[in-house]
Amino acid sequence: MVHPQAGEKPHAVCIPFPAQGHINPMLKLAKLLHHKGFHITFVNTEHNHKRLLRSQGPHSLDGLPHFRFDMIPDGLPPSDADSTQDIPSLCTSLSEHGLSAFRSLLLKLREQSQDGVVPPVTCIVSDGGMAFTVDAAEELKIPEVVFWTPSACGVFGCTKYRRLVEDGFTPLKDPTYLSNGYLETMVSWTSGMKSIRLRDIPTFIRTLDHQDIMLNFVIQEVERSSRASAVILNTFDTLEHDVLESLSSVFPHIYTIGPLQLLADQIQDEALRLVGGNLWREEPECLPWLDSKEPGSVVYVNFGSITVITAGQLTEFAWGLANSQKPFLWIIRPDLVATESAVLPPEFMEEIAGRGMLARWCRQEEVLKHRAIGGFLTHSGWNSTLESLCGGVPVICWPFFGDQQTNCRYSCTEWGIGMEIDNDVKRDEVEGLVRELMEGEKGKEMRKKAMEWKAMAEEAIMPGGTSYNNMDKLISEVLSAID
Ligand code: UDX
Repeated sequence: MVHPQAGEKPHAVCIPFPAQGHINPMLKLAKLLHHKGFHITFVNTEHNHKRLLRSQGPHSLDGLPHFRFDMIPDGLPPSDADSTQDIPSLCTSLSEHGLSAFRSLLLKLREQSQDGVVPPVTCIVSDGGMAFTVDAAEELKIPEVVFWTPSACGVFGCTKYRRLVEDGFTPLKDPTYLSNGYLETMVSWTSGMKSIRLRDIPTFIRTLDHQDIMLNFVIQEVERSSRASAVILNTFDTLEHDVLESLSSVFPHIYTIGPLQLLADQIQDEALRLVGGNLWREEPECLPWLDSKEPGSVVYVNFGSITVITAGQLTEFAWGLANSQKPFLWIIRPDLVATESAVLPPEFMEEIAGRGMLARWCRQEEVLKHRAIGGFLTHSGWNSTLESLCGGVPVICWPFFGDQQTNCRYSCTEWGIGMEIDNDVKRDEVEGLVRELMEGEKGKEMRKKAMEWKAMAEEAIMPGGTSYNNMDKLISEVLSAID
């Protein structure tokens, strides 16, 4: 193990899984570590490095002392497309090629440190979906911490995959599982999770194939992560207390340091703050438009960076929003609609004139903190859920895949901040739920609950709070520990 010499900074290599929902929290953690005195090497894939240069500007990734960006290939054919890469292909490719690419990067950094260009690497902080890094860390004797970016409940569901296979719950046997009620089966042995059905467990168990890429990838990554020195989660203890207790039997050293957004907001360093991680160019017009709206009056609609919907679903959401008569800000990512183009009919555009704003990408954290936002129609991605909670904003959940189903379940039944929309979305249900969210009794209760969670999140990141203390402990006990 390498220790920093007197006067030398500890050096953390931070490597997110190459998707927006993973880059964002890792970048926040990297900024916090930088602020605490670390030299940072932030490793993107070559594909995302180029995308960031396009979306953030050519000088966005250099110039900050002791914060350097580096890259590894993802092993997929090169592409200049500004769209989310296919997740199973990325998982396969990184499992095959990631280790050798990462090992080469660490050896390059070792040479650079011998030449005095960078301090020696003292720790690795890797995404749970990049657990090939654990092999490199063990080979080169560098301590590694794994950062699982989903919720604790989502991660806990993933840790149960092997058991679900062994007990014959998955792979599923009947291809009609989406309609035959099988997913309603209660899973009674998951201590730490109350009233959980198969459909609340991260969706990669929904396969008929023993060789399924995602099912096996999750099992592999959970098992490799358990060899890391510690596991980091972007959550806070009061929010997921019971699940965290159960999860500690799988990962004994867990550091809950969320919401990272609130911890990172405390950094008073403008240059650091400006280091951006958005893979799409943000449309700044959204915020002035919100300024013109009444407090709590606007519904915000965004399905994150991976969700893909059909043209039919787009139409149902559109008319549901229009018919609700509420003002709304709807982010329609250029690659949101599968294969067909996302053109909304002129009569819809006329109907919503002055009341609805459409954009391709926004600064979501800023939007969710804006006083005009009264509710959020979301796909229940973990970052979106947490960002909503930090803004005290209740949600309508339309989960798409992965841990989003688990986050939806917890939002609706445990945390009291959400209502679920049927997967087979229809305009009348959208209209009704939006009205309930914005003006109904249930909406009021959920808003009150969201405000209570917001206050508890703020408590967790203040001096003496659990996440604040865990961040300090993470650094002193693991990331710059002297053995
Ligand atoms: C996915 C999963 O959904 C999520 O549950 C998992 O933990 C990480 O990978 P994604 O689907 O993109 O992520 O959703 P989400 O977790 O909500 O992350 C999206 C991020 O992009 C958020 O931090 C959000 O603030 C940001 N974003 C999204 C923007 O800044 N602007 C936008 O217009 C849309």
